[in-house]
Amino acid sequence: MKIEQAKFFREYLDTAANMYRLGWDERNGGNLSLLLDVDPAKFGLKCKRVLSLGFDASELAGRSLLVTGTGKYFKNVKEDPANNVGVIRITADGKNAELLYGYEDGGRPTSELPAHLMSHISRLRVDPENRVILHCHPTHLLAMTFVHDLDEKKFSHTLWETCTECMVVFPEGVGVLPWMLCGTNEIGEATAKKLAEFRVVVWALHGIYGAGKTLDEAFGLVETVEKAAQLYLLTAHLPRKNTISDDNLKEIAEAFGVKYRADFLN
Ligand code: 13P
Ligand code: ZN
Repeated sequence: MKIEQAKFFREYLDTAANMYRLGWDERNGGNLSLLLDVDPAKFGLKCKRVLSLGFDASELAGRSLLVTGTGKYFKNVKEDPANNVGVIRITADGKNAELLYGYEDGGRPTSELPAHLMSHISRLRVDPENRVILHCHPTHLLAMTFVHDLDEKKFSHTLWETCTECMVVFPEGVGVLPWMLCGTNEIGEATAKKLAEFRVVVWALHGIYGAGKTLDEAFGLVETVEKAAQLYLLTAHLPRKNTISDDNLKEIAEAFGVKYRADFLN
């Protein structure tokens, strides 16, 4: 079987297409990585090139990932995976990655590869089943970071009180980073640190990172945060007559049996 026919590969392409459809990934905005549970050799793939990483990814030594290419348009990912995505395997010393599939036009992995690999390492330490790191630029969330306090407690509380489901979907709240230069090891380290505590990290004035055991889980997290941000923007300038109270939030958490950040309530 060709790797393009594998279920995980098709799901990955569908996720990228949905991210584009929802307007989260203009031009080359955003990137998506999936840790593979199968050995790519099973699909007859061999090393085509060696790519230097520029940081230590030895905790992922021998692991393979599907990851979008830098500068590649999400619009084109599903139709032309061979040019727009790659399968890389981290070498035993954690310093390089072997390219096994894709980037056929000479491309490279996303410029956010440090953030993706560091985030995978960080999530795997707290959840060995984590497989997905997803980064994108959802419109309403991005807009919200221009007008809302960037304090994590306040930001999480606003999202929770905007939409009943939020407490169920991200009871740990969301991490928030101030504006930082993207594509660097520094933003990668900061994101990975936050992802030890949260599955969602907001990059102020830039976008969002979501993590999950599955593509659906990571996608659904970002989708829910984006919906809450949209509702916030639709209502923030209007007189508020009703709200989801802290007592309501506690009631939701208890009813759904989720462990939530109690210190994020008022
Ligand atoms: P890449 O094209 O390198 O993946 O970068 C897109 C992006 O969103 C940077 O944060
Ligand atoms: Zn980005």
